[in-house]
Amino acid sequence: MQNKILDILINADDYISGQEISKRLGVSRQAIWKAVNALKEKDYVIDSVTNKGYRLVSSPPYLNERAIKSNLNTKIIGSEVIVLETTTSTNDYLKKLGSNGCKNGTVVAAREQSSGKGRLGRQWQAKKDECIAFSFLLRPNIAPSEVAAITPLAGLAVCKAIRKFTGIDCKLKWPNDIIVGRKKLVGILTEMSAEFDGVEYIVTGIGINAGAKEFPEEISKKATSLMLETGVAIDKNKLLACVLEQIENDFMSNNLTLSENALEEYKDLCATIGRNVTFCRGDKQLGGIAVGVDKNGELKVMQNDGTVCLVNSGEVTVQGIY
Ligand code: BTN
Repeated sequence: MQNKILDILINADDYISGQEISKRLGVSRQAIWKAVNALKEKDYVIDSVTNKGYRLVSSPPYLNERAIKSNLNTKIIGSEVIVLETTTSTNDYLKKLGSNGCKNGTVVAAREQSSGKGRLGRQWQAKKDECIAFSFLLRPNIAPSEVAAITPLAGLAVCKAIRKFTGIDCKLKWPNDIIVGRKKLVGILTEMSAEFDGVEYIVTGIGINAGAKEFPEEISKKATSLMLETGVAIDKNKLLACVLEQIENDFMSNNLTLSENALEEYKDLCATIGRNVTFCRGDKQLGGIAVGVDKNGELKVMQNDGTVCLVNSGEVTVQGIY
C-alpha cells in the first residue's frame, strides 16, 4: 500500500487529493492518511494541505531499495536489490544468500556495517549512512583463474561512475583502490566460492566513503569521502544506481576480461603507473618504477637494472600515496 501511494505521488505533477488516491487504490481515505503518516515516519517528506491533498517533497536520503531501483536501468546487476538497515558485512550476508541459490546479479547494500571486511584481513569502517557499502553476486561461467580480472574491472567501472556522477578527479591505485590525491575514497574486496574447475559464485564488495565529514585520527591522513571532496551531500541512491549500471556495461562489453580496451582505460586512470613502488618477494623488499598493468591485472615494475617483473598480489607501497 505504501509503495502504491508512493508510485502515485511520484507520478503526480502537483498535489493529489486523498479522495483521488483512495479511489485509485480502492481503499478508504482513512487508510491513505495512515499510510502517508507511516511514510513520513520513514523520512519521506510529504506535504499535506487541506482541500488540495498530498505532495511528495522529498524521499529519504539514506540507501533504500525503492530509490535505487527507480534509478536503475540494468538487466542483471540489481535484478534483486536488498538494503539492510545494519549488518555485519554485506559480503558475508550475500555469500550466505549465494550458497542458498540467490539470483545472478543480486545486490546487497547496508546503511551500516558492524564488522565490514577489508583486504588482507583488515577492517572496513562503515558508520550509519556515511558509506555506500554494497556487494554484488555473479555466477559467471568461468574458471577460478579467470576471476582475477573482476576486481580491476569493478574498480575501473566504479572510478568512471564516480568521475561522471560527481566530477571528482579520482584515480585507481593498483590493484583496486580508488583515491583522490593521496587519500583513499573506495575499497573493493572480491571473494569467491569455487570448485577446481568452476566458479559457483563471486561476491564483490565495494565501500565508497560518501557522507563522512571527518575520519578517526589514525586514518584521517589516508582517507577521504565524497562529502569532503565536494562539500555537498550527494544522492547515495542515484550514485549507487549509476555505479551498478557502469559495472554492468563494463562487465558485459569486456566479457568479464581485462580486454585491450579495458586495460587502456585502466592504465589511463591508474595513479600507480609512473611512480616508485616497493613490494615484497619472499622475504626480500624490492623496488622500481610501475610501468604498466598486464592483461591478468598484474603490475609491471621496472627495477633499477632495467628488468621488468610482474607483481600480482600482496601489498605494494606507492611513494606519494598513503
Ligand atoms: C579494502 O580496501 O581493503 C577493501 C574494502 C572493502 C569494503 C567493502 S564495504 C562492502 C563490502 N562488505 C565488506 O565487508 N567489505 C566490502
